[in-house]
Amino acid sequence: MIKKIVTDLCCVNNSCKKPRLYLESFLGTKDECIEGFLSCKICKSKYPIIQGVPILLENFHEYACQRIITFGKWIVNSNSSQIKSFLKSEGAKIRGHTYNDRYEENGIWYNVYLNTHNNYPSGDRLLSLLKKQIKPHHVYKMLTNEDLNLSGIGLDIGCSIGSSTIELSKKLSFVFGIDLSFSFILEARKRMHNRNRRNMEFIVADATNLPFKSKFFHSIVALNVIDRLDFVKLIFSVNSSIKKNGKLILIDPYHFVDDTGKDKFDSSQIRKKLEKFGYKINNEESYIPWIMKINERSYLFYFVDFIEAKKDN
Ligand SMILES: C[S@@+](CC[C@H](N)C(=O)[O-])C[C@H]1O[C@@H](n2cnc3c(N)ncnc32)[C@H](O)[C@@H]1O
Ligand SMILES: [Zn+2]
Repeated sequence: MIKKIVTDLCCVNNSCKKPRLYLESFLGTKDECIEGFLSCKICKSKYPIIQGVPILLENFHEYACQRIITFGKWIVNSNSSQIKSFLKSEGAKIRGHTYNDRYEENGIWYNVYLNTHNNYPSGDRLLSLLKKQIKPHHVYKMLTNEDLNLSGIGLDIGCSIGSSTIELSKKLSFVFGIDLSFSFILEARKRMHNRNRRNMEFIVADATNLPFKSKFFHSIVALNVIDRLDFVKLIFSVNSSIKKNGKLILIDPYHFVDDTGKDKFDSSQIRKKLEKFGYKINNEESYIPWIMKINERSYLFYFVDFIEAKKDN
């Protein structure tokens, strides 16, 4: 974690939420912490930094139970005695049901996203068959479009391995990428270092309980995530973090259905809901092709809608 971001963050304990975190670094460099704690001066909550990744979640125990293989690797790979003993004592509390999240390394979606974000080979079978060339990265590149005119400090919600965050960093003064998957955030940080870019940082955080100072962002983006979350909780969380006149970009295929089999979302419903929550929508419904390769013989193809909204009040 880049040390200087500590003053931008706030505690995620819901009964505190104060921007009074301080950093204890046990391993790292002058500018970056690799192992340490972010601690709250007010409620004394402690949030670990593991392999350079800050984990700013209200319930660390629950998070560890949901990615037990990843948790085991944290213990094996930690170097400082403080983080090792913190993880061991957390491990001793794990008794009940555990599993490994689908977006963590070894999970079913991890490699799919890794391949999708790391450019398709030029001879990809499906893409070569199609008459109109579909560019898998087109939708990420749209974020730097001149007409969109994003500026200031940005947040990329559900950033996975950071392709959209890296695009945004070309336009914005600083951008944060957040995701619940530790493995994705670890990979995103590797890509950030490989590109030698210093105006971004990646954090494990929950979109519905954001760890940032209030009204901090000029631009917020959520790409292919809103159908995975409680929309109202997400918008409450976004509204606490976005500045007046800030821009919110939602890009989604709305492909999830609820238990009754009816479509849970569609573009016009989302647009109406956004207006109720204080946004002015700037564009019409769109159908932008987006493709993901699941394995050698199967692909997911979506038309995503690109919603550009401005916070009015
Ligand atoms: C469908 S993927 C989209 C990834 C990326 N935005 C893209 O378009 O390639 C959904 C992502 O949202 C993340 N996610 C799901 N629920 C989340 C939450 N509550 N807070 C933050 N990230 C979340 C997942 O870990 C996953 O990386
Ligand atoms: Zn606190």
